[in-house]
Amino acid sequence: MTTPSAAALATTLRTHLAGTLRASDVGIVVVLGGWVHRSRDLGGQVFLDLRDRGGVVQCSFNPQWTAAETIAAAAAIGIESVVMIEGTVAPRPAEMLNPEMATGAIEVRATAIRVVGPAVTPALPVAPIKDGKLPAEELRLRHRILDLRRDELQRALVLRHRLMQTTRQYLSAQGYLELETPILTKPTPEGARDFLVPSRMHAGEFYALPQSPQIYKQLFMCAGFDRYFQIARCFRDEDLRADRQLEFTQIDIEASFIGREDIITLAEGLIQSLWAEAGVAVETPFPRMSYADAMERYGCDRPDLRYGLEIEDLTARFAQSESAIIQSALRAGGRVRGIRVPGGAGWSRKQVDELEAIAKGAGIGGLIRLKGTGSALEGPLAKFLSAEAQSALSLREGELLLAVAAHDRVASPALDRVRQECAARLGLADPTARRFLWVLDFPMFDQDPESGALAAVHHPFTAPNAEDRQARPDAPATWRALAYDCVLNGTELGGGSIRTSDPTVQSRMFSLLGIGDAAEQERRFGFLLEGLRAGAPPHGGIAFGFDRIAMLLAGASSLRDVIAFPKTTAARALFEGAPSAVPADDLSELHIRTVDA
Ligand code: AMO
Repeated sequence: MTTPSAAALATTLRTHLAGTLRASDVGIVVVLGGWVHRSRDLGGQVFLDLRDRGGVVQCSFNPQWTAAETIAAAAAIGIESVVMIEGTVAPRPAEMLNPEMATGAIEVRATAIRVVGPAVTPALPVAPIKDGKLPAEELRLRHRILDLRRDELQRALVLRHRLMQTTRQYLSAQGYLELETPILTKPTPEGARDFLVPSRMHAGEFYALPQSPQIYKQLFMCAGFDRYFQIARCFRDEDLRADRQLEFTQIDIEASFIGREDIITLAEGLIQSLWAEAGVAVETPFPRMSYADAMERYGCDRPDLRYGLEIEDLTARFAQSESAIIQSALRAGGRVRGIRVPGGAGWSRKQVDELEAIAKGAGIGGLIRLKGTGSALEGPLAKFLSAEAQSALSLREGELLLAVAAHDRVASPALDRVRQECAARLGLADPTARRFLWVLDFPMFDQDPESGALAAVHHPFTAPNAEDRQARPDAPATWRALAYDCVLNGTELGGGSIRTSDPTVQSRMFSLLGIGDAAEQERRFGFLLEGLRAGAPPHGGIAFGFDRIAMLLAGASSLRDVIAFPKTTAARALFEGAPSAVPADDLSELHIRTVDA
């Protein structure tokens, strides 16, 4: 992306951006506008650092070139006030040269200053402070405007802008049309709760805010628009984490007459250009892994490939064990699976207990732990293993084996968490490495082990694998889906699928998901079915989490650092104070009566 020239940034009120002035500008008269970043009063001589979007420049108020009353006025201005300063660009005195500042070779010899926006004493420092420690995040969110002035957040939001423009340029160049979809809509299931908006005109009826533009983008395909994209705001009422917000932005894409490979190629190109915008070269094609393989080897569908610690199936090694716990797990259809942690044998009992607590938190009874020390293995279960079984495990000196005897449904998530914690302890995840991955062939459905009910793993509009459906028409729980996820270092960047374009198949999918009643299908999804019945091309797409991409490229650890006005994990907007109570009259106009919880 190109940045505008200095001339383009001049206005009728100012001539230059402060931070863009350089030694080549020496001698010119400038009018600058910005915030007082720092102020130093040396008694008779005042230095103000002036900050604007372009950076910071030192303005010097000195009796040699500044009138006494202007110096006095400069000394009286509080930091973070907005001022206009007029002066001449001059070389800095030798002892004041600052090679670390972009404007460090010059200063502005000020002749006039005017306060245009006085500031109350700021509740937070904006200029970097000595120990570099930031105030608590809650305080920063409460005073978001001051925090947004900080260099780090300024840079993050500028990067966000550049990434948006890159997205638009890349997709427009491929013939994708940027089309908008409604915000007041019907519910689109993406697995979270909907935010509902009451209708004033229709008592007791509600709009839903979109969890994604999924159905609408498919309707664009039915309407012949062929290639669509949108930088779309999505709303999901779900529990928040560092990489999840209630409202977030997707790069949403859909195309007609395409297959999985077309989407993957397009998406890799998009990722490549986004990373290039942040100065990082990305190699394509990305490696691929089936969902089944990812779950078997890493216990999760978005594995971090920056380190090994792969899960092994040790069932055969433990099959003859006399441990009642293991035997009962095996009889119940479980397996023994575990990871070998190099150097883990040196961890204290407490450290390993902490790992067990993590595994238990994921729902398993306990961790099998065996240490490779000398010829025999150490650990509570060692005595239940024959000498042959112990030697077949071939644990290396210093290695710790952490295993789980349970059904995959609980064992995989437990091993995933243990694996991640071990990697974090051992510092195995190289922060500079980028391991992109496509995870393919997700199952179509997740089956509740007790009720047998099916839920869509991706969403109900994803097409099932046709071969699976034909081979096992009565066993939908075994069907794979034409879905794909793009993963980077253990984070899901995006996901999509080829869709069901046949209305009869779509209707059957609804039935499998427990929406068998035709009237109910029409009530909830009639508008999609009508679109499909009107003649639907084969189509598919993908959506990337834009905030997640911006977060990774900004080197931030939370989405809150790349969203201007984010929500806290307690789902509150602290600066503007949302959500908030509404007067009873406003509620009654919306036909709403609240009850005390
Ligand atoms: P999915 O639900 O996988 O797919 O969402 C796509 C991507 O959006 C990001 N994401 C989020 N980012 C921040 N906060 C959240 N609460 C949040 N939830 C999701 C993730 C995710 O990979 N309609 C489908 C896409 C399709 O099939 O084309 C969809 O929304 O990075």
